[in-house]
Amino acid sequence: MCGIVGYTGSSQAAPFLIEGLKTLEYRGYDSAGVEILDASGRLRGVKCAGRVSALADRCKTEDLRSTCGIAHTRWATHDAPTDRNAHPHESCDGRIAIVHNGIIENYRALREELQARGHTFRSETDSEVVAHLVEETMSGAASGNLLEALRLATRRLEGTWAIVAMSADEPGVLACARKGSPLVLASTEGGAYAASDITALAGVTSHVLQLDDGQLARMLPSGEVAVYDEQGDAVAEPDSLDIDWDASAATLGGYDDFMAKEIAEQPAAIERLLEGRFADGRVLLDELTLSDEQIAQIDRVYVVACGTSLHVGLLARRLIERWARIPVVAVAASEFIYEDVLVTDHTLCVIITQSGETADTLAAARKMRAAGANVFAITNVLGSTAARESDGVLYIKAGPEVCVASTKAYTAQMVAASILALLLAQKNGSMATGEVGRKFRELRHVPDLMRTVLDRSWQAKAAAHDFEHASSALFIGRAANSATASEGALKLKEVSYLHAEAYPAGEMKHGPIALLEPGFPVVAICPRDNVRDKMFSNIQEAIARGATCVAVATDGDEDVAAVASRVMWIPECPDNIVPIVAVLHLQMLARYVALARGCDVDKPRNLAKSVTVE
Ligand code: M6R
Repeated sequence: MCGIVGYTGSSQAAPFLIEGLKTLEYRGYDSAGVEILDASGRLRGVKCAGRVSALADRCKTEDLRSTCGIAHTRWATHDAPTDRNAHPHESCDGRIAIVHNGIIENYRALREELQARGHTFRSETDSEVVAHLVEETMSGAASGNLLEALRLATRRLEGTWAIVAMSADEPGVLACARKGSPLVLASTEGGAYAASDITALAGVTSHVLQLDDGQLARMLPSGEVAVYDEQGDAVAEPDSLDIDWDASAATLGGYDDFMAKEIAEQPAAIERLLEGRFADGRVLLDELTLSDEQIAQIDRVYVVACGTSLHVGLLARRLIERWARIPVVAVAASEFIYEDVLVTDHTLCVIITQSGETADTLAAARKMRAAGANVFAITNVLGSTAARESDGVLYIKAGPEVCVASTKAYTAQMVAASILALLLAQKNGSMATGEVGRKFRELRHVPDLMRTVLDRSWQAKAAAHDFEHASSALFIGRAANSATASEGALKLKEVSYLHAEAYPAGEMKHGPIALLEPGFPVVAICPRDNVRDKMFSNIQEAIARGATCVAVATDGDEDVAAVASRVMWIPECPDNIVPIVAVLHLQMLARYVALARGCDVDKPRNLAKSVTVE
């Protein structure tokens, strides 16, 4: 996790560094720090526990005038989020400073070794060893060449890293290295930039260079960026990417918080995603780089993801099995490494990941590729590791998702999974062309159905009152909407810190019903579908035990209205569309409950948006 930025050029560094950290703060917000090379040739840093706003306040009273600097926002992996453990970290002589994103797995051994050679450590972090190793190589084999010093230092490291280093002995030069953690660079007339992801660079360039694993780069004040491989040889044509995101897409634009903004953006995101995906009676998905014959032969699909994206995976499993008649295993990526996988020549692995950087999901994808499966990624972030390491990638085009709690990516990923399922069904002949067209037209109605639900936000706001004095809540649903229940419970937990549990409604009687007592909130997803009557029975069972039932039901279902304490209404829609539409009420409910409890909905405690550790 963690976000890093670096700049060297002709402008003042600090404003970009602080703004860059604010953009990357979703990656971690336990502590933050900035380091510059001052006019007297000394490295000077300011760092503190807490958020980037706390760092920005401190920086106001410091003289940070410099045209070269590095900065970091941290999600703590090793030891407490204190001032001392905040990055950047310096070498003993204070002439090297580094920021690091990733985990140095062999740091204990390296630390002992460096201490035995007289190095003094100021923090408990794994990252600090990098500053001391570079200090040694800089004054040794690399003889004053920062990039070479960093290259030699990284040969001693095990684990993952994106590192930006600066040295008082090579003023204006930044050296970068990457293995397993993302890092993008930009070369502009005004200078050279580095950042953990493109959102931090969207305001300065529309073209970025992407370091591959093992690569390093030297950045100069002229804006020049030179990329090298592990052996130190120049890379003639490093990977690059054009950014088509509008920088303003990552700003609040008049909304109170990013969660509100991103919930509201869902209809437009789905419209963008569906554009150009259907013509002449056929679903268009050229990104799946398999021949028609290979697609028709797919005999098994693994869907692997984490968190909210895993809930999309649960829906994807149903759609692919129902429409394309292919057996699907949907599994949490964090558990996947313990699974025995059954890969044939015709196995497809679908990874679903908003950030494209989730370490567990990437590890699962690598395992499947190594076993011979074709890996297809559904992701939001252009040029992310998931995109780059997969055989094919479908971008969901939701735009930057800043709020740590995923909302617009969730629904866009569900629509993306629907497109994939239709494509598979069409190509293997499980679904007639006319039926594929009908299903696709249903997807086209999703944006308007969503707008109807968004116009009813007052219903979720009113329902939030039922959670004011609760210490726990139960979410129940059946069939596809048991995943909706899981997503609703996850959203509530992560933004409001209220304990919530999701259960398939039919399982309630096998245990969770013991929780129920007068006033206990039960959120029941009860649309008018083929399991509606069974869900209605479950609602009655809960109410009979005194539970306060907040239902999501289809317009006009008076039976539900008669028994539930509150109803959040959805318009009539096909079964496969309900999960994409109903969840909007649950997203809004979670936000309203969180606001009532005084929580920061965009940056929930302990979380980071991009979970780059396993
Ligand atoms: O970027 P990814 O989709 O791979 O992220 C997976 C999970 O970390 C993520 O969905 C997480 O559960 C969110 N905070 C949910 O809102």
